[in-house]
Amino acid sequence: MSTITLTVNGEPHRLEVPPMKRLLDVLREDLQLTGTKEGCGEGECGSCSVLLNGDLVNSCLVPVLQTEGATITTIEGVADLAGPGERLHPIQQCFLEHGGAQCGICTPGMILATHHLLEKYPQPDLSQIQEGLAGNLCRCTGYTRIFAAVQAAARMEGSK
Ligand code: FES
Ligand code: FES
Repeated sequence: MSTITLTVNGEPHRLEVPPMKRLLDVLREDLQLTGTKEGCGEGECGSCSVLLNGDLVNSCLVPVLQTEGATITTIEGVADLAGPGERLHPIQQCFLEHGGAQCGICTPGMILATHHLLEKYPQPDLSQIQEGLAGNLCRCTGYTRIFAAVQAAARMEGSK
């Protein structure tokens, strides 16, 4: 076992965990943050995406050992990125309003990938959206509504 200290959604944690345990499993099992989903478990689908020190990563591929001292944001912490007391981040609101989620398995990862994309390109064109979400697969929506949700979120953020 190893002692790992990390900050998740603004809360510091000190954990005794096997060093090679996947970050995905630490989040879901040790911290009960079950919003992060497992799809493929092989780094292909993006369902398990989280922000690790501001970078988008597949948490199924990250041994917790590599997160010592890191700052992590999961879907449970996204609303707080919009400001204290917010119930939904504008990206979440736009996914809701534009039908960007159906079964919901891909949605937490899509929302974190969208957040990462809009940090880089506040007003992305369609090809930037397609590229920014290329690592996140959706079996349900056909992507059109997801892309519409991302465009709406960019407009909402841009009008602030
Ligand atoms: S579960 Fe991690 S990329 Fe699919
Ligand atoms: S909403 Fe079902 S996989 Fe995307």
